[in-house]
Amino acid sequence: MTFISLCKLAPLRQANKTHMSQMQLPLPEFMKLPESPSPEELLRVYSSDGITSIDKRVNLELEYAHLLKTTQQFDRRLVSFQANKNTKFHSWLKYKEGFSSKLVETLFDKFSVTAGQRVLDPFAGSGTTLLVAQSKSVNAVGIDILPLCHLAWKAKSRYQQYDLQILQEIRQQIDKPPLWSEVKFPHVAITQSAFTEEQERKLMGYKGYFESLSVDDATRDLLQLVLMSVLEDISFTRKDGQYLRWDNRSQKAQQRDANRTANGKTPYHAFYKGEILDVSHAVQQALDRVIRDIEAVQKTTVRPSEQVMLAGTVLEILPTLDADQFDAVITSPPYCNRYDYTRTYALELAFLGVTHQGIVNLRQEQLSCTVENRSKLAHLKAFYEGIGRANEYHTVIAAIDSNFALQEVFTAMEVRNQRGDLNNKGVVQMVRGYFTELAFVIYELYRVCKSGANIAIVNDNVRYGGEIIPVDLLMTDLAVTFGFAPLTVYVLQQRKGNSSQQMGKFGREALRKSITVWQKPSSGHS
Ligand SMILES: C[S@@+](CC[C@H](N)C(=O)[O-])C[C@H]1O[C@@H](n2cnc3c(N)ncnc32)[C@H](O)[C@@H]1O
Repeated sequence: MTFISLCKLAPLRQANKTHMSQMQLPLPEFMKLPESPSPEELLRVYSSDGITSIDKRVNLELEYAHLLKTTQQFDRRLVSFQANKNTKFHSWLKYKEGFSSKLVETLFDKFSVTAGQRVLDPFAGSGTTLLVAQSKSVNAVGIDILPLCHLAWKAKSRYQQYDLQILQEIRQQIDKPPLWSEVKFPHVAITQSAFTEEQERKLMGYKGYFESLSVDDATRDLLQLVLMSVLEDISFTRKDGQYLRWDNRSQKAQQRDANRTANGKTPYHAFYKGEILDVSHAVQQALDRVIRDIEAVQKTTVRPSEQVMLAGTVLEILPTLDADQFDAVITSPPYCNRYDYTRTYALELAFLGVTHQGIVNLRQEQLSCTVENRSKLAHLKAFYEGIGRANEYHTVIAAIDSNFALQEVFTAMEVRNQRGDLNNKGVVQMVRGYFTELAFVIYELYRVCKSGANIAIVNDNVRYGGEIIPVDLLMTDLAVTFGFAPLTVYVLQQRKGNSSQQMGKFGREALRKSITVWQKPSSGHS
């Protein structure tokens, strides 16, 4: 059974006819749309099996088809951390979820962001946007919830303050590893046995040594970042999608497989990570890179400007920022993909002293992108009441409730859950929470931006239980409700694949990975 109402789609399709060729994306032959797809053809590509209603989403595709622009200007390398791997400063912490400095530079050019202006990145991560802003004398505000991002930003942004001679002396001192330490790594349950005993003692030896030095705060933070940046390389873990993967030499993997075998289950066969870097080697290498970059950049002069990274949740910080102050927003929120930053960065968080409960709290506070996230609605309501803006809370909720495509997605998730098509029922709340919270962010972005400001948001579309969730267009539709003018949705050419499980079950079309661009027009809130 299918719920699509073809007659309802026809007029929209007519209206957008001239733009339909832009929907021609590189799909496998059998999934390709013809020049002028009929609603039935769109349905064939969009729907997995016709179980749920998809017409609101198809309408959304038709309505915004003219915005979609498949481009080679932005590729996966540019919108991911890949292009930062060897870039000065940006490479100091491998933040796989980051985008590249090149992307930010390209967007600065596109938006004509110039020295003295002010940009915002509400999901600032490792500080890519802020760092590019600093290099171009553009003022910037960033927000992030993870302490490791703040350490990375502090260390990278203060490059002019470091005394190279002191750093070089410290580097010489660590040619010989410091004494082993009896101080234990502050493990939390999920990080236990991440290192061999020898590596852990060495690591803590470096930590103790760095802490014993009488250096200024900036240098102390820099040294802490150096240590934090090697944790993955010296451990049995690898950051991999939603979780930390464990090497089969680790106690944890061995114990887990022994338990499974004892219970008559097949062992997981943990992976083999390859060479695990020796702590001394890793720390020396990291400090060498840092010194090299500082040396190169200290010679250059940049007109001073101001960048700040605010710590906490965007949902509470954005509403407290003054209105009409930003000339541009460049950002990438967590994707709606079950990726849990608090698990993948558990080693780094524990290293910084975040406790188990602290990690649990961060998980709940981050934008809902894991199946464990609970609704933040009651909290948001109380928060908006507390700051005397209860009516705006209701404005955002009304926008969500009256967004047909969004409601269709929420219903589809419920239906899929009831049918057992989701492999975790938490996906239902995650999707609902994700868009609800993003709606608040988008509403606030409108408020804090100046008229004429451009907004660029990198995101991925997703699919659960066979249901395509067009994140880019759903965000755009909310943005339009709040007054933004949608400009372009740049679609990356190599589109994001699906998990093999999803591909096998629900067809093969890939999902869009895009950069969505809106503008705050000259008039006020619509
Ligand atoms: C895709 S990453 C951004 C990466 C960034 N563009 C970079 O280049 O490093 C998304 C970021 O959003 C942050 N985040 C998630 N939920 C948040 C919240 N509620 N408030 C503030 N930041 C949040 C995460 O900690 C993560 O660093």
